[in-house]
Amino acid sequence: MSEDTSHRKRDHINICLNEDISFRTKTNGFEKYDFIHNAVTTQDFTKIDLATKFLNYKISFPFMISCMTGGTKQAENINEMLSTAANMLKIPVGVGSQRQALENDSFHDSYKVIRKNAKDVPVVGNIGGAEVARMKSLKEIRKLVDLVEADAMVVHLNPLQELIQPEGNRNFSGLLKKIEKLVKLLDVPVIAKEVGSGIEKSAAKKLLDAGCKGIDVAGAGGTSWSAVEMKRKNNPNENENYLWDWGLPTSYCVRTVSELKKKYKFTLIASGGITSGIDISKALALGADITASARPIFIQVMDHGFEGVVDLIESWFEDVKKIMFLTGSKNIGQLNRSKIIKSEAAV
Ligand SMILES: Cc1cc2nc3c(=O)[nH]c(=O)nc-3n(C[C@H](O)[C@H](O)[C@H](O)COP(=O)(O)O)c2cc1C
Repeated sequence: MSEDTSHRKRDHINICLNEDISFRTKTNGFEKYDFIHNAVTTQDFTKIDLATKFLNYKISFPFMISCMTGGTKQAENINEMLSTAANMLKIPVGVGSQRQALENDSFHDSYKVIRKNAKDVPVVGNIGGAEVARMKSLKEIRKLVDLVEADAMVVHLNPLQELIQPEGNRNFSGLLKKIEKLVKLLDVPVIAKEVGSGIEKSAAKKLLDAGCKGIDVAGAGGTSWSAVEMKRKNNPNENENYLWDWGLPTSYCVRTVSELKKKYKFTLIASGGITSGIDISKALALGADITASARPIFIQVMDHGFEGVVDLIESWFEDVKKIMFLTGSKNIGQLNRSKIIKSEAAV
């Protein structure tokens, strides 16, 4: 069993690095928006403040390195680089699914290395919704929180991936009740996250009613996890090809979930196809509190190490700063809905 989980994580690393597994016909949706140019900006570029708060930490940028890997030998080195970059930048970092760590302790170091390097920033743990739904006792998840000294626990919801995965779990019955129990059991907040098909308003409402304190929409437009699982199969089922592009664009998810802020107190994380400072700025303007990215960071770390990740994220935020200057936004809070319009309105 643990061999299988570890092998699968290894396949994911190889496919994410070497294959074209992006959405083909769908984008993250942000191209449909324009910023409102402020010709009378009164900003001093040097005084623009990108800092914000997340899980009781002050972080330098509203950005997080998404949950990716763990549970293989190779993951230890990758996680060491990702957490080093996160600590240098003073931004949060996630660990990959900790399912493998429940099976045996062979690769515990591949998870622990994150907190070892990311001492001064939020670290979030990670477990699959399918595991949560089928676990008899959720107490084991406390051990996963302790393993990485997590500031929050992410439950990833990936019904599409499980559907395509040959060994996937197709039984999510009881999931919401289990999430509710988990929320009560843990001393840290629970964040619900998709992996590229998106969480929109009605799904988010159910998760918030269950007690989740964060929603990471992880929408469509970037990495397609049905594509990753199709690539893992020797004989992919061509009838399933329509599922390559299944999901809701990130912009739609952020816009609709942000409407729930009127009623619920939660952190809204925008991810799924975030590849630039423009995407980040539009996600923030549409209502996200912070943004996140996975595969672009993964490719960067494999090609250029932790320094490459630091350079990439700093360059994205240099662009965010320029956009804040041009829209008259002094701090992250001011980069809000009043600064963005649907593109057609701009014509
Ligand atoms: C190599 C790799 C491994 C991943 N493993 C996990 C995981 O274990 N748990 C999880 O919640 N998401 C995992 N993801 C999904 C990402 O966190 C993210 O939700 C998804 O890839 C969409 O974001 P993107 O378009 O920026 O890649 C992984 C992504 C990559 C690239």
